[in-house]
Amino acid sequence: MQTKANIQNIAPYQPGVLKAGAIKLASNENPLGSSPKALAALKADLDKLHLYPDGGCVRLRNALAVHYGLTPEYFLPGNGSDEIFHFITGAFVSPGERVLTTEITFSEYTFAAQLFAGAVDYAPLTDGRLQLDVLLRKITPQTKVIFLANPNNPTGAYCEAAAFENFLQKVPGEIMVVLDEAYAEYAAAADYPDSLRLLKTFKNLLITRTFSKIYGLAGLRVGYVIAAPETIAYLNKTREPFNVNALAQTAAAAALQDTEFVQRSRANNEVGKKYLYAEFTKLKLKYYPTEANFIFVYIGQDCVTAFQKLMDRGVTVRPMRSFGVPDAIRVTIGTPEQNQKFITALKEIL
Ligand SMILES: Cc1ncc(COP(=O)(O)O)c(C=O)c1O
Repeated sequence: MQTKANIQNIAPYQPGVLKAGAIKLASNENPLGSSPKALAALKADLDKLHLYPDGGCVRLRNALAVHYGLTPEYFLPGNGSDEIFHFITGAFVSPGERVLTTEITFSEYTFAAQLFAGAVDYAPLTDGRLQLDVLLRKITPQTKVIFLANPNNPTGAYCEAAAFENFLQKVPGEIMVVLDEAYAEYAAAADYPDSLRLLKTFKNLLITRTFSKIYGLAGLRVGYVIAAPETIAYLNKTREPFNVNALAQTAAAAALQDTEFVQRSRANNEVGKKYLYAEFTKLKLKYYPTEANFIFVYIGQDCVTAFQKLMDRGVTVRPMRSFGVPDAIRVTIGTPEQNQKFITALKEIL
């Protein structure tokens, strides 16, 4: 077998651990389950599975267009936003060219770049937060794509609207800026960017979102990119004919109507956030304020050992060692009962 160096160098993705009988607070899933409207729509479509999916995702793109007040040409759905990152790097990055992102962020940007033999540059974070001027200084003539998670996974920090717009003004127009808003629906800060407003001005802006988080449909795999119609038409050339399965399309279109579930999920998240902040403060643990559905917290001990001990007590979290932080964990905000169980276990191991 003659292998390619860029593929050999890829470290396989480590998913959050699911242990029978344990609460999983390791993958930022929705602790309230799935959108009930999505589940009802799925049941109604179960007798159509002998048919291929709608290859153009027409119904879902129309539903997204209505939801956001844009036209369907602005949207391209994918098999999770992960697949969208592949479309983008495949379409814009040639071997040896560069992708820019930050340290301590979602690993799939690096994976997507490596898959297409691109190189990756990382801008440092300060206390979990990105300084956009630092990112600007990392741009090189070979930089083709910038990936920014907002809020950032795993730190939960966000870029403010004014700073982000100022950043876009300074990025050369030929570099594609991917704003990954997987957790946008949880963001509560008043100055969280209204990124859709920027699409008309900045043709190099691509916004990705997902049904995996607040809509509770991670198992179905459906995300999407919102960008200028010419960018969408170009990316559309790179996808497989039936990249989003039929049930995913049905569930996602129905979930967009489920404002009650979204509001309930957001409210649960805010309650859990306040509770966990208060408990971490009592325990004198440093944490980063979050705009997402998880919290990055320093625990003053080796995180992989702590992860094992917490798992023994029935809770799985994400150790931050693979992100280069040996003494922190990331915990998904769960239901009140799950959060209490996590805090009880944490107190025991500290
Ligand atoms: C920042 C970020 N982007 C994207 C994703 C993946 O989303 P999807 O399930 O749509 O592939 C995740 C999943 O954890 C994430 O944290």
